[in-house]
Amino acid sequence: MFIDNNRWYSDPFECREGFWNDVDQHMLRYGAPYFTPAVIDHASGSYVYTEDGRKILDFTSGQMSATLGHAHPAIVKTVQETYPRLDHLFSAMLSRPVVNLTRRLTDAATAASAKDVDGPAEPLDHAVLLTTGSEVNDAALRLAKAVTGKFEVVSFNRSWHGLTSAAAGATYSSARKVGVPGVPGQIAIPTPYEYRPDFTDADGNLDWSRQLDYGFAMVDAQSVGSLAACIVEPIVSGGGILVPPPGYFKALRDKCHERGMLLIFDEAQTSMGRVGSWFGFERDGVTPDIVTVSKTLGAGLPLAAMITTASIERRAHDAGFVFYTSHVNDPVVAAVGYTVMDVIERDDLFGNVERRGAQLRDGLRRIMDGHEIVGDARGRGLLQGIEIVEDKASKMRSEHLADLITQECFKRGLHMNIVCLPGMGGVFRIAPPLTVSPDEIDLGLSILDESIGVVERSR
Ligand SMILES: Cc1ncc(COP(=O)(O)O)c(C=O)c1O
Repeated sequence: MFIDNNRWYSDPFECREGFWNDVDQHMLRYGAPYFTPAVIDHASGSYVYTEDGRKILDFTSGQMSATLGHAHPAIVKTVQETYPRLDHLFSAMLSRPVVNLTRRLTDAATAASAKDVDGPAEPLDHAVLLTTGSEVNDAALRLAKAVTGKFEVVSFNRSWHGLTSAAAGATYSSARKVGVPGVPGQIAIPTPYEYRPDFTDADGNLDWSRQLDYGFAMVDAQSVGSLAACIVEPIVSGGGILVPPPGYFKALRDKCHERGMLLIFDEAQTSMGRVGSWFGFERDGVTPDIVTVSKTLGAGLPLAAMITTASIERRAHDAGFVFYTSHVNDPVVAAVGYTVMDVIERDDLFGNVERRGAQLRDGLRRIMDGHEIVGDARGRGLLQGIEIVEDKASKMRSEHLADLITQECFKRGLHMNIVCLPGMGGVFRIAPPLTVSPDEIDLGLSILDESIGVVERSR
């Protein structure tokens, strides 16, 4: 395997003819620093299969989305049954799959909001179905601006909320230096990062309370008096699998509400069972004003939802809120979302996430203890990560070593992903399907362990 023109190839001739030549000649480069060195032929369960006959364990569920594994029979059946009857409709027409999923999603969100730390919150009982994570975050920010009549948006300095306009405005971890004016009114606060604390207590641990106070002192200093919303992930995934400590989100929500801002949770990666519950915010019992779900809802198909309360929905409508798109409330993907929720319940995938998550956590901790270049292991449920460093003492990040480990894993049949945009650091995001088996977790861990060993010894 070698790298040419910033890409890996398994065969030196492959890059000059055929498939890879077409890639060179015709494909617009969209930010992936390199392509996976294989032509993917098909995908099934926890594996993808290459054209040259290799079977690769997919430890990222595609782009963190194929949560039931690839081509789950129930999803295939739903598409086959729905598409011939109800493919796509005029955006003001409604169909049963859309209303059924909306009711089921809002029932789950309402049940979660009833368990709020401050007593039952106003139910999250209104939703609209959209397509991608970026789009639904744009919708949520637009909704917050309509309701508050204000425009400033706060988010973490290691955030990734997408690449459409408002979502990109609230994204700081990467893809920001495009050299043109962004959306006005964006303010960043520091991300709680326990492995690399910037505000410390007497024991050297992260003092998140002081960090949050500092963040909001900076918000107050920069605001022009038009604070609309704060958008954050319950687990900052693209920023390096950072899990804010218990208590953090309650304090964050208080800061937002004191200022008349809405709190938006972006649950692209943490909802629909990924961390063992419908929503990631359930761990903290902190109900947001708006929650967005995407990737995991469609289990690989483009489906997203924005969920909020009746009073916010009413205020937005009265303020003239519009988010009328070609694929709003489309039936085929709505039917798929309903099946996703069915399968999660029917197959007790929350339980599987708890068991396989514990197995994965134990394995990653063993790997961390056994290797000098693994500095930290963290995460929740089946969204976990390890941080690759030059050595444990210096904690110096090493994207280079992480790249080499990715290549060694791939050679051995494991697809791993470092947060792979430049500047995002050497953190592996590990997010196998919720359906993953004990043997598949063991296989992934053993390939990862062996690959780290090979890279460590070759330094
Ligand atoms: C937390 C989060 N929000 C939003 C997005 C953007 O979603 P999409 O790529 O579907 O537009 C992503 C994508 O990685 C994400 O991780």
